[in-house]
Order: sequence, then structure tokens, then C-alpha cells
Amino acid sequence: MTWIKQLSLKYKYFLGSLFYLSYAPKALRYSRWKEKVERQYAAPPPSEGLDRPGKLLRCEATENGANLYFEQAELEVSFLTPDLVRMTWRPGILPVPYGIAQQDWKSVSLQVEETPDGWTMTSRSNEVPVLKLTVSDDGRITFSDAFGNVVREELPPEKSGDGWTHRSHLRPTEAVYGLGERSVPLNLRLAREVTEKQKVTETPKTFRMWNYDAAGKYDAGADPMYICIPLYLGLHDQGSYLVFYENSFDARFTFSDVATATFEGGALRYYVTVGTPAQVLERYTQLTGRPPMPPRWALGYHQSHWGYETEEAVRVTYQGFEAHDLPLSVIHLDIDVQVGFRAFTIDPDRFPNLRGFIEELLQHGVQFVTILNPGVKLSRKSNLFLEGQVLDAFCKSPDGQLVVAPVWPGWCVFPDFTHPIVRRWWSRQYEYLLDVGVAGFWHDMNEPAAFIIWGDRSLPPRATQHYMEGRGGNHLEAHNVYGLLQAQAAYESLCQTRPHQCPFIVSRAGWAGLQRYAWTWTGDIECTWTALRQTISTVAGLGLSGIPYSGPDIGGFQGNPSAELYLRWFQMCNFVTFCRTHSANNVEDRTPWIYGEPTLSIIRQFLRLRYRLIPYFYTLSWEATQKGYPPVRPVFWADFTDANLWNMDDAFLLGDRLLICPILEEGGRSRQVTLPKGQWYHFWDDSRLEGQVTVEAPLEQIPIFVKAGTILPMEEG
Ligand code: GLC
Repeated sequence: MTWIKQLSLKYKYFLGSLFYLSYAPKALRYSRWKEKVERQYAAPPPSEGLDRPGKLLRCEATENGANLYFEQAELEVSFLTPDLVRMTWRPGILPVPYGIAQQDWKSVSLQVEETPDGWTMTSRSNEVPVLKLTVSDDGRITFSDAFGNVVREELPPEKSGDGWTHRSHLRPTEAVYGLGERSVPLNLRLAREVTEKQKVTETPKTFRMWNYDAAGKYDAGADPMYICIPLYLGLHDQGSYLVFYENSFDARFTFSDVATATFEGGALRYYVTVGTPAQVLERYTQLTGRPPMPPRWALGYHQSHWGYETEEAVRVTYQGFEAHDLPLSVIHLDIDVQVGFRAFTIDPDRFPNLRGFIEELLQHGVQFVTILNPGVKLSRKSNLFLEGQVLDAFCKSPDGQLVVAPVWPGWCVFPDFTHPIVRRWWSRQYEYLLDVGVAGFWHDMNEPAAFIIWGDRSLPPRATQHYMEGRGGNHLEAHNVYGLLQAQAAYESLCQTRPHQCPFIVSRAGWAGLQRYAWTWTGDIECTWTALRQTISTVAGLGLSGIPYSGPDIGGFQGNPSAELYLRWFQMCNFVTFCRTHSANNVEDRTPWIYGEPTLSIIRQFLRLRYRLIPYFYTLSWEATQKGYPPVRPVFWADFTDANLWNMDDAFLLGDRLLICPILEEGGRSRQVTLPKGQWYHFWDDSRLEGQVTVEAPLEQIPIFVKAGTILPMEEG
């Protein structure tokens, strides 16, 4: 790197840091205020009383299950299908069903029987037993599959404060996956607590359920992240199951010899389904919904940078792709195209003829996607703020004051998306941008995030009130569904305005069911080799949590990757659904040609391969809409009975037919691969391989294998 380039990068970094610093005074004021109201509305000390449910007093069979009355709690068991059962322990507030897509279910053939120490319920399909549940008279519950294997054993739940703690045994070798977006190994049981001095301990990691802005940069081990979903898939030698807690309150999960889930509030409502990993995911996505087909262009390559400030900067970018003969489908515009970083604005000084410019882009085959954040600038000069005030659309504290926090536009207020009228009002705002031809939307900072100096980067949980479809509640419950409901509002707008086009929304935050409305990306990840490796588990884990479309900022958000790191990251993401380069405002604009040769030519080859594979990607999208299977799958998906594959997270499957083995180390020019059972063809030289192999990986290649017998649909090159 020349000294001039180094100097200009330092200057950019310095300016970027100044930009962040300019928010410090507001963040300081907000942190002080937040601490004060959090103290004011702190939870009362938990009342004495309920602990375990006590003894079972009686059981009443119902149409689809039974109601069981314990001394201190009630359990409602309801079979939705022969292999899916809903369990509800009360007391506690029932959830507003934001995560649920299907409410009506057919009746299930069921046998309810009393035993010497409790009750059993066995569902049947065509007279064959499918799922057997035993409830002991102290509240212990077991779930057995169609072969009679006990796949899950729960301990009696405990009521703690306003919420519940739930424990379930884990087998010594059982693997656990899910919890939404996580920055740890794919098998969550392998994650350990790390001390402040970065020392890895023996203590199993505790995962928090609290959508969180991992602001600026994060690396492997960070927790929580932007999308927390209280579900996990357990896989052991006797079978597999999935449990989803329909409870959006702040919660904590730990996996040691027992899985422990502790919720801050709400009834203990959860769903259990048993079957193979594919079957349980299919059932879970029947319950919480599946994605619509994406537009075909969304499966192409996306280019983004926080720093495309003007029409001219965007033009130079797409022309650069053309000049270097690189395919490009989408450009994403970040907050710097907005007026004062305000939602639903595009600065007319910098984009004087937006409609014309979008047409120009389209003529070059490029779609225009723009960002927006939920925070609305508190300003009498903002129509959005004034309209929202008339509708009483913004979150308030119990004393009727607006909850105000600093985000990019300055002091902001936050729409209460748990109100249907607010969602409808928000939906309407997209129309102007849709009218001028914007192809899709990128929702950011929607955990919702706020700037702080200390404390949690969001709204005060107990002091922020929400409508919750009329029944009322606070942010402790609404926080995790906030991004989901904003995505719903956008999705409805896109479907209404363009009923014949597939919608495209990317959302940073979300909860169970986000897949119905949006894709996601893995946020502000560090620019390191460990971060590159982490991407595989994070994306595959999201897929096992029902969210099939995701991908990282290629090259990492903060920092300037070396040519080799960028290339290896690109080669991997070439086979991930959301293939987008994005980077921060204080780093170099990251396009493939800044790295020179041979990086540029190799990226060109890979991108061409991706575009040739679009029919395969599209087929996988169809599978996602029909069954909920993620296109990017963990290696064990190929053979879940092989325990050697359960922890494998340095490779992934694209569909069932392609095994992608990225290079995850600097200087790596070969790697070991464990092929799942059967024969696989080496993509680059057609050799047929089996078992454990070591394969070459020069810079021009990453190992890719095609399952023997595959017909791979590809376009002409
Ligand atoms: C957040 C986003 C990042 C975006 C930036 C500015 O940090 O995660 O992708 O570029 O905000 O909008």
C-alpha cells in the first residue's frame, strides 16, 4: 500500500471516529435518564409462593389433549398435529401470537390414559402411534417418538417471579442448535463462557434472548446478537426434536447436562415436535410460517458501502462493475443518502432525479435498495413525527411522556409496532419510495437500537409501554418482536403496492416468524479470519431457527481486509443466499477491483459460477417456501445419524447436493474434508471421492463437492 493511500485511510478512519464521537453527549444524557427510569420502574421483589407445580390433582381430557390441574399450576396440552404438541403452563400472561402463522389445526386422533403415577397421551396417524407424552403427577414430562424412544425428558417447571424456569435433560453427547442468530459454534453445547481477559473457561455459555445491537464490530463469542429466537433442536442417538418457546420476554438459556430456559415473564408456552431434523423444521415453519419466493435478482450479487453519498458515487460503482466485467444485481444505499438520516427520505440535493436515476440503474440490470431505521426524529419540522403524534403512534412511559433516545438522526421517538393502526400508518410510508422505483428495503437499528455510554443499547424495558394488540404490555415483552412487526408493516406495503412482484426486505432484528417477511444479514462483524469462520455457524444456525436467507458483510464491516481474506470470504459467500459486500464509513470502499490481480479475475470466475447456479438457488428457494428448509444447511443434514458430523461447522451444504468447504486460514492452500456417506465428485476435477480426504485449495479454488447422482441445474456460461 502506498503511503498516500495509507494516509487517506487513516484520515477516513479519523473522520469516521469523529462522527461516532459526535453522538457522545446525547448518549451520555440518555444513559443517565435511562438508568433513572429503570430504577423508578424496577421489578418488585419476587413474591413468595409458587415454585414447582405441586401434586397433580386432576386431569380433564379435551378435544385435542388435556387440561391438568396441579396444586399450584395448570397445564394445557394441545396436539396440533400428531407430531406437534403445544404445552401451556399457567399462571402467566399468554403471548400475543406474533410468531405464529397457522392458528387452525385439524383434530388429532388421541388416546388419553391414566397410569399409576400420572397420565399418558398418544397421538396416532392412520392408527399408528406417532408421539407419546407422559405427564407424571409432579409435573415431569417425557416425549417419545413413533419408535417408542424417549427423545426429551422435562423436569417440573418452576415459577420464578413473573416468569418461569424450565429444565430438560440433555444426553451426554446430545447436540443442540438454534436460538436464532448466534456467534458461537454451530453446536451450542460447545460454547463456553469467556472472561473479560479473553480466557476461555469450562463453564457452558449462557445465551441471552434480547435482540441486541452488536454496534461497530463483534467477533466470535459475542452474545446476544440482533435476532434471538427461543427455539432449539436437540439431536442425539435416540432421535431428534425441536422445542420453541412462544414467549418473547427477556430470557436466558444454558445447555449443560440439562437445558435451562429462564423467562422474565409470561406463561410457559412452548411447542415440541419430534422427527428428523428436516421434519421438525418443516413442522416448525408450518407453525411460524415460510418465506415467500424472493425476486430472482435477490439471488445475484449485492454491493453496498456506508459512504455512497451521491448519485455519482453509485454511478461510478455500477460502471466499475461493468468495466471489470463483473455481474451485479443490486446496490444498497446506506443512511448517508437520507436527509439528516431520517427514515423514508432520499436527499434531493444528492439525488435530484431519483426516478430517472433508478431507471438508469435498471437499464444496467441493477436494482436500488435503500435503508431505513424505525427511530423517527423528534422534530416539529418532520411530517412523519407530526403525523405519528396525531395518531399517538409512539412509545411512551407510564406517565404519558414520549420515550426519547438518540439514534442517527439525533433525538428519536419509536413507533409502537404492536398497534395495528401504527403498522398500517408505517406501511403507507413506503409508497413514495416504491412509486419512484425503489426495489426493496433494508431495515436497520430495529432491535430497536439506541446510543448509550453504559447500560443496554435499547429502550428502558419496564418503563416503555406497548399496546400489544390492546392487552397492553411493556418493552420487556415487546422488545424482541419489534423488528418482526416493522418487517410485517413493510411486507404488507410491498405486497399491496406491487401484488405481482416478489417482495424484498432485509431486517437486522427479528424473532420467530421473521422468515415470512424478510431476509437478514449478520450485522457489524469484525474483519478477521475468525469472523469469516464464524459466519458458517451463524448462517447455518439461523437456517435451523427457521430463517433461510442470510449472509454476512463480505470482508467484515469494520476494517480493511487483506486481498486474501476478502477473496476467501467472497468465495464462501458466493454459495450463501445473501451475497453482499458491505463496509463501514471509516474504511475503504470495498469493490473487487481495488485488490488488483489475481483477486479480481478469481472473483469474476466465482461470480460467473454463482450466476450460472441461479436455477439451483431458485429451486432451493422454492423448497424453502414449501418446506421451510434453508438453502444453506449444516453438514449433518446429509446424514444426521452420523455423530461425527454433528459438530462440523467449517463447511456447509448448499441444498442437499453441493458441499462447500471454504478456506478459513491465512495462507491455507489445502484442507481436510469429511465427506458425508456416499460418493462425491470434486467439482473442479471430477474425481470421485469418499470418506476423509485432503484436497488442494489454491487461491483460485475452494473445495466444492457434488453428490454422486446429482443433476445440477445450471445456466449456460
Ligand atoms: C449499522 C448497520 C450497518 C450500517 C450502519 C449505518 O451499524 O449494522 O450495516 O452501515 O448502521 O447505517
